[in-house]
Amino acid sequence: MPDTIQHVLVPGTFDPITYGHIDVVKRARRICPLVTVAVAESLGKNGVGTAFSLDERVALAREALGEIPGVEVRPFRGLLVDFAREMGADAVVKGLRAMTDFEYELQQADLNYRLDNHLESIFVMSAPQYGYISSSVVRQIASFGGDVSQLVTDNVAEALRRRYAV
Ligand code: PNS
Repeated sequence: MPDTIQHVLVPGTFDPITYGHIDVVKRARRICPLVTVAVAESLGKNGVGTAFSLDERVALAREALGEIPGVEVRPFRGLLVDFAREMGADAVVKGLRAMTDFEYELQQADLNYRLDNHLESIFVMSAPQYGYISSSVVRQIASFGGDVSQLVTDNVAEALRRRYAV
């Protein structure tokens, strides 16, 4: 009998965490007893800096998620596979929103597999209401003073207001 999955990482940049991310974390928790939300130092998908520092992104994620038994939030630097090994995690869980996510996520999963073929990649389908939420959309709306209350928790909306205050 092979080992079953006991601990998964939900990795991301979380710049900032959205209701879409929270949905993925809760789904991951339903299928696994221990979930670590792994906040990457990350330069972002396009190699540009993040809107919030690593410490800020971790703090916002912790507040937004609240106390969910079996869920913790940790920062990491470097390769995800190294962090997974350090944490003793067996798999990575990511959300798939639309077809547009697929190519990128497949590439990430392929690279992670080449680096460590013991680390499983698991994908959960985002709930339809979160299908088009992304951190970059949230940042864009907030930067123009738009209402993001449907997309992020109150603490994140407040942090965005401060971040983009003129
Ligand atoms: O929120 P994102 O941008 O989808 O998250 C991407 C993330 C942080 C999960 C990915 O970039 C990552 O794992 N970064 C750490 C470096 C690494 O291991 N890259 C994958 C193999 S090159």
